[in-house]
Amino acid sequence: MSIPPDALRRTGGVAIKRIVFDEGTIAHRVREMGREITAAYPDGDLLLLGLLKGSFVFMGDLARAIERPLQVDFIVVSSYGKDTTSSGNVRLLYDPATDLAGKHVIVVEDIIDTGRTLQRLLSLLSARQPASLAVCALLHKKLAPPLPEVRFVGFECPPAFIVGYGLDHAENYRHLPFIADLG
Ligand code: IMP
Ligand code: MG
Repeated sequence: MSIPPDALRRTGGVAIKRIVFDEGTIAHRVREMGREITAAYPDGDLLLLGLLKGSFVFMGDLARAIERPLQVDFIVVSSYGKDTTSSGNVRLLYDPATDLAGKHVIVVEDIIDTGRTLQRLLSLLSARQPASLAVCALLHKKLAPPLPEVRFVGFECPPAFIVGYGLDHAENYRHLPFIADLG
């Protein structure tokens, strides 16, 4: 995929090695995922629970692609800082204000790498008696054994470290409208 002419302006001059998913490809797939979720939950209360910060862009687009009533909340777990490998440590920094009991809860995640973040989080959330608990991830690196809760996945992701559309490196590049490998 070709690199947009305004990319250098957005990155502050840092060259992008490769566009992994462009804006149009992401938009098309997110609309499809919205339809999948709409069809999968014919009734009941639905709550989208986004993992901050990485899910913030995806959440906005996904919520608008779902054609049924829903509620939105967020959860904050500790991040890796500047390290680009997963430590497996999960710390809850913000707990959702919404009551999960009796609701269909979909955890919205930017990317599943080792899946360790999610595994810890899911056991915490299932103790709160949701009617069902599923995960919707935009990207999956398929490095980890599959978790049964991961019901909706946007794209399989190459084993590179990628940024954009919510994903960061040391808090930068979340605002890029495409997903890129900086190399
Ligand atoms: P896991 O616990 O190893 O599955 O890590 C998942 C989290 O690591 C994601 O929510 C991201 O915040 C971060 N992460 C993993 N891979 C990447 C990447 O390629 N780019 C940016 N963030 C990543
Ligand atoms: Mg991150």
